[in-house]
Amino acid sequence: MAPFLIMLLLMGSAEKEILLPLPKHKGQVSVEEAIKNRKSVRSFKKEPLSIEEISQLLWAAQGITHTLRGFSFRAAPSAGALYPLEVYTVLKQGIYHYIPSGHKLVLVKEGDFRKKLANAGLSQSAIHSAPLDIVITAIYARTMIKYGERGTRYVHIEAGHVAENLQLQAVALGLGSVPIGAFYDEKVKNVIGCTNEEVPLYIIPIGKPRE
Ligand SMILES: Cc1cc2nc3c(=O)[nH]c(=O)nc-3n(C[C@H](O)[C@H](O)[C@H](O)COP(=O)(O)O)c2cc1C
Repeated sequence: MAPFLIMLLLMGSAEKEILLPLPKHKGQVSVEEAIKNRKSVRSFKKEPLSIEEISQLLWAAQGITHTLRGFSFRAAPSAGALYPLEVYTVLKQGIYHYIPSGHKLVLVKEGDFRKKLANAGLSQSAIHSAPLDIVITAIYARTMIKYGERGTRYVHIEAGHVAENLQLQAVALGLGSVPIGAFYDEKVKNVIGCTNEEVPLYIIPIGKPRE
């Protein structure tokens, strides 16, 4: 990682755009071990995650894995490859929107919003204590334009795919996570500063398990 970026992260200042390091395509933990060891973790050490860990998690969620005839496909399957989901990272430094093309983060808001996000999530302490909260939102219209009402079902199924990828990748990195569905949609939208057409579906706190 560039020394300048390390310095900014240590100082707690938020960069406007962060080009993430390339993800690894090989790890030390088998898929079977990751499935066996996944469990909901709700208590985390304060330690921030490295930019490499954040990069790897985002890649597992929505990173581009292959291209065909100029079209990019992502780590999780999507009905009609319409990709209705958006991913946000809520970090101590600020809230960032993940952009799969270019594998980068774009700053939405500077500052620590984890407590506010926890308040929007029925005060669940996992959200407040985790060094990283991933928020998955959906733009239903992207899928419904092709599949009509059934598209709603597809979008929810896809959020499950993304969440499971994230959770298994977290285990493979020695991290813990919990998928959270209990929160006030409007409050979460206000906290993360997403567009009005987006609906939050999941909050996934991730960090080193406290044990
Ligand atoms: C759709 C969904 C919503 C969930 N919402 C919450 C939540 O709001 N808070 C929480 O602590 N756990 C939540 N969980 C996690 C479950 O409580 C957990 O998966 C379950 O107890 C099984 O335990 P395990 O994940 O360790 O296997 C949710 C899980 C799913 C699939």
